[in-house]
Amino acid sequence: MNRRRKGEYGAFFRLMSEKKAAYIAGLVGGSLGNALLSVIMAFTLMEMIGAVMSDDLRSLYRALYGLGIATLVVTVLSPLCSYLHQTSVKRNMAALRRKGYAKLVRLPMAQIDAVSKGDVSSRLNNDIHQIEQAFADQAGMVLYTAFLGIGSAAAMFLLNWRFAIVLMILSVVSFFVNRLLTGLIRKDGDAMQRQLGEVSQSFSELLAGALVLRLFPAAGRFRRKFGDDSRAAADLSVSLAGKSGWLEAVNFLVNFLSFGGIIALGALLVLYGSLRMETAVALVQLQTNINFAFNQWSRFVAGLQLSLASASRIRELLEMPAEEIAEGAAAPGRRGNVEFSGVSFSYDGKHPVLHRVDVDIGEGSTVAFVGPSGSGKSTIAKLLLGLYPDYEGSIRICGRELRDWPLRSLRDHIAFVPQHPYIFEGTIEDNIRAGNSRASVDEVVRAARMAQIRPFIEQLPDGLRTRVNENGQLLSGGQKQRIALARMFLKDAPVIVLDEPTSALDTATEEMSQDALKALAGKKTLVIIAHRLSTIEHADRIYVMSEGRIRESGAHASLLGKGGLYARLWAGDALAQPSRIR
Ligand SMILES: Nc1ncnc2c1ncn2[C@@H]1O[C@H](COP(=O)(O)OP(=O)(O)OP(=O)(O)O)[C@@H](O)[C@H]1O
Ligand SMILES: [Mg+2]
Repeated sequence: MNRRRKGEYGAFFRLMSEKKAAYIAGLVGGSLGNALLSVIMAFTLMEMIGAVMSDDLRSLYRALYGLGIATLVVTVLSPLCSYLHQTSVKRNMAALRRKGYAKLVRLPMAQIDAVSKGDVSSRLNNDIHQIEQAFADQAGMVLYTAFLGIGSAAAMFLLNWRFAIVLMILSVVSFFVNRLLTGLIRKDGDAMQRQLGEVSQSFSELLAGALVLRLFPAAGRFRRKFGDDSRAAADLSVSLAGKSGWLEAVNFLVNFLSFGGIIALGALLVLYGSLRMETAVALVQLQTNINFAFNQWSRFVAGLQLSLASASRIRELLEMPAEEIAEGAAAPGRRGNVEFSGVSFSYDGKHPVLHRVDVDIGEGSTVAFVGPSGSGKSTIAKLLLGLYPDYEGSIRICGRELRDWPLRSLRDHIAFVPQHPYIFEGTIEDNIRAGNSRASVDEVVRAARMAQIRPFIEQLPDGLRTRVNENGQLLSGGQKQRIALARMFLKDAPVIVLDEPTSALDTATEEMSQDALKALAGKKTLVIIAHRLSTIEHADRIYVMSEGRIRESGAHASLLGKGGLYARLWAGDALAQPSRIR
């Protein structure tokens, strides 16, 4: 075993954190017991045939007792071992899932941006499943076949070492023939698996892109690709079936010849008097064990190695750095003043997104960020939430540098409504409660009313208890936004950051939500990011951004008076929404 492999096995077993002793006892006990029983069977067979041939009834009974006792012992011990082994596997897998989940929750945003979401969820699902199989079945089978092979070989040498050598050679030959043949199929098998992968990928695209596929001419191309992929998979599996049929036939012949050869040799030796009949039978029985062990051991080891790859993927996930949670005092008060000075930032370290941004947001004031798409508005919000701590310059909240805040209390301090709110699988109430799990039903209802989502909820058959599916697929964009707003109202934090909170609302609903927000003005610090400038007209201060820089700032009237970027944006906004021209 080379060093790397050893390391991989080590890493694999280190994934098991609980009840290791029970696991090993159960695993070794179970596989050793079963292997021993198979060897004892061969001996019992020998005793019984010997007894029958020499008409010795007492030997026959003795053999039967022996077998009975061995079976009884294994019958009692085997479930016990299996219990120890399986409970430890289940516990460990549950612990692994918990650790994976805990890690995901604390993965820094920059890391989440870098990994593919599909990849991570496949790690947590498929890889843990694969590891469970390895711990539960594969490891046991590897040990069982090893014990069976070694035990049977030892028994054979004990019975007749000369014959044992011949049998071992036959086993080795049949093993290599077998391996040669399966190797030939494996290449085709791998190609077919890849092709099936393509087909299932097409299936999931068919569902995920259902809308686009129906509306754009791409549908025909996708259908053709799907047709080609599935035809290719079918062709491969037909050729594989043909080949494996032939190979099985050849394999069968080789095994039969080797088995026949042993029987013939055994019969000859018995005839010449150099081997007893019953010993020959026991040897043949043991040789079957060895053949099984030889052929299957490598298969089980290959399966186990596949799981090692899963284990190293999971370890990679578990070893990713977590968000650093600063130790120390809780929030310095419930105040809401925020200050950016000379803040520069880049997501990837290469392309700067913010350039020396200075912002001063007083306690209880309402400020707005406006500017063209991609100018860095959402980035400011994300920095404020401590999602990307690798910025240059200084961000102070309540006078304390953001990096020195304990993350938990920083995030309690700020309520955030993201540009694309996420709706979790569960009830509408659960989704609103994400803002504050301890709120009473009355408080939830009040938050829903403030967010203007109450009329919609009331017409649903189950009201607040209505279930919504993952990412709110059955809700409209505006309904999702209002649920997110309700979440924010319920959280009742001193600083509120809204990233285009009302972009998907109709004018009437938007105005009502704006009224609810206005009611907060003065009591909370409000940071509003908006495309529709009419919604932030009344802000105390408006920061106008472009290409990661603050170009202008001031109140609506003074900015208009300047006739700069804001005035141009305002003119464009008014053109885009004629109803707003007064
Ligand atoms: N997670 C990310 N990783 C890398 N680059 C990003 C990431 N998020 C945003 N960017 C880049 O940062 C820049 C600013 O993005 P940001 O989302 O802050 O813009 P915005 O002003 O909010 O735009 P919009 O009005 O369209 O929402 C863009 O060029 C964008 O491509
Ligand atoms: Mg944005």
